[in-house]
Amino acid sequence: MGKSFAVIGDPIDHSLSPNIHSAAFRELNLDSSYIGYRIPKGELEGGIEGLKKIKINGFNITIPHKIEMMKYLDKIDESCSIIGAVNTVVNNDGVLKGYNTDMDGFLEPLKKRNVSIQNSKVLLIGAGGAARAIVAGIAKEKAKSIDIANRTIENANNLSEFAQKIGLSANVKKIEDVDNLENYDIIINATSIGLKNEKSPISFEGMKEKTIVYDIVYAPMNTDFIKKAKEKNAEIIYGYEMLLGQATRAFEIWHKIEAPYNAMKKALLGGF
Ligand SMILES: NC(=O)c1ccc[n+]([C@@H]2O[C@H](COP(=O)([O-])OP(=O)(O)OC[C@H]3O[C@@H](n4cnc5c(N)ncnc54)[C@H](OP(=O)(O)O)[C@@H]3O)[C@@H](O)[C@H]2O)c1
Repeated sequence: MGKSFAVIGDPIDHSLSPNIHSAAFRELNLDSSYIGYRIPKGELEGGIEGLKKIKINGFNITIPHKIEMMKYLDKIDESCSIIGAVNTVVNNDGVLKGYNTDMDGFLEPLKKRNVSIQNSKVLLIGAGGAARAIVAGIAKEKAKSIDIANRTIENANNLSEFAQKIGLSANVKKIEDVDNLENYDIIINATSIGLKNEKSPISFEGMKEKTIVYDIVYAPMNTDFIKKAKEKNAEIIYGYEMLLGQATRAFEIWHKIEAPYNAMKKALLGGF
């Protein structure tokens, strides 16, 4: 029998995941399907029951359910217990096991470029769910320190506490107080600034050439943050690369075979 998969969230109609996974199924001739399924905030429990009834084989979780979904898991992989949020679920005869592939998805483009995070100084702008997965990844790779800049200082403080708990030295700032960019090896935007074509949250004044600048916003592909960084000759990593990284990991958890990266990338870039 064919296998079925979904991504749940709200809004969901602009999700690129159905395209990416469907392209992988076509490439490998898998009898599987993947759909976007809108579950509004507050209706997660009923939504999950529905997915179990149709014997869904697995699903991804996006905004706003990544944290609340933890409550409905029967088993929790280490990747999601550390981060406290889940983005990938396997359904094994009604037993739901949760994983978080955002951390490895974030790290993958850095590894592909042979960028070593070890002993590096990182500036992370943002302190939401994605930023938390990024902090876990940066800590795992043993960066020297991280500065967390966020609009709401309380959220940055919480994330900084998390960083220190997992062994990463962290400081907190307001976004407008970010300066001395020459001190950083890696600069990351993990806010949603850019999604609606907003101006870059920082000016890149003083940044060293070839600094790694990573925007996790993936639509539009060239945010103002990326454009400004390019003007200063940064080494750019695009949000779509993280999106592909987390999708290929999820694919491999579900299907236990290597994901067809190039076919998935082609489908994703065709979506822009
Ligand atoms: N490429 C990928 O694979 C990937 C994966 C996950 C997420 N993302 C993208 O990453 C972004 C963040 O996702 P998330 O799950 O972390 O969301 P989230 O938990 O809602 O966090 C949102 C973050 O953005 C900040 N923010 C939002 N609007 C802002 C504004 N107008 N000015 C300044 N800061 C603002 C928030 O600051 P406050 O704390 O002050 O509210 C917070 O730091 C989204 O655009 C999402 O699409 C990409």
